[in-house]
Amino acid sequence: MSHLLDKIAEFKVIPVVKIDNATDAAPLAKALIAGGLPVAEVTFRTDAAEEAIKEMSKFSEMVVGAGTITCVEQAQKACDAGAVFIVTAGFNRLVTEFAVENNIPIFPGVCTPTELMYLLEYKLPVAKFFPAEQFGGLNTIKALSGPFPNIRFMPTGGINEKNILEYLANPKIIACGGSWMVKDTLINEQKFDEIQRLTSEAVKLVK
Ligand code: 3PG
Repeated sequence: MSHLLDKIAEFKVIPVVKIDNATDAAPLAKALIAGGLPVAEVTFRTDAAEEAIKEMSKFSEMVVGAGTITCVEQAQKACDAGAVFIVTAGFNRLVTEFAVENNIPIFPGVCTPTELMYLLEYKLPVAKFFPAEQFGGLNTIKALSGPFPNIRFMPTGGINEKNILEYLANPKIIACGGSWMVKDTLINEQKFDEIQRLTSEAVKLVK
């Protein structure tokens, strides 16, 4: 877990991907690698997610995780495909227990103190704060950090090149998730050069 957390802290931004065609996964991985950000949270919002994780994981530099996991079956499929971490949009006890039992880092989605209490129960160090902007953004993270000083946050939802630096300046924030450099429209139109350009701009910005 701690090796992965170090890497995530180093990346500072995790591209959140929704991919419709698994054939776009390899060129997408190449664009992310060339852009200097070899990491992705591939969301299980499409049927192509499992195959896309398989394809992206073939690149040894890539750190590929699975997002929007809603049940154990999906978590199992994601891990079998090569996912090295799991992200959920909300807290799910069964998915969390699957991850903990199998030593797979998991970042459960939370936005309330009650949900953070669940993380303590499972001794999980990082929460995905989601949807970040809609639930009060940085001010909410600051307020939650008081009673939960040992939890770090990966805010996601409404984060982009305009507000990410403000988030990253807070020491409780390990990294931010965002889709602005890997928008599904760019992937579907196979604009991988543009994805690479936006990715390297994001990397420069957060350096
Ligand atoms: C997610 O599931 O993490 C979000 O859809 C990503 O949010 P964004 O598209 O606002 O970056």
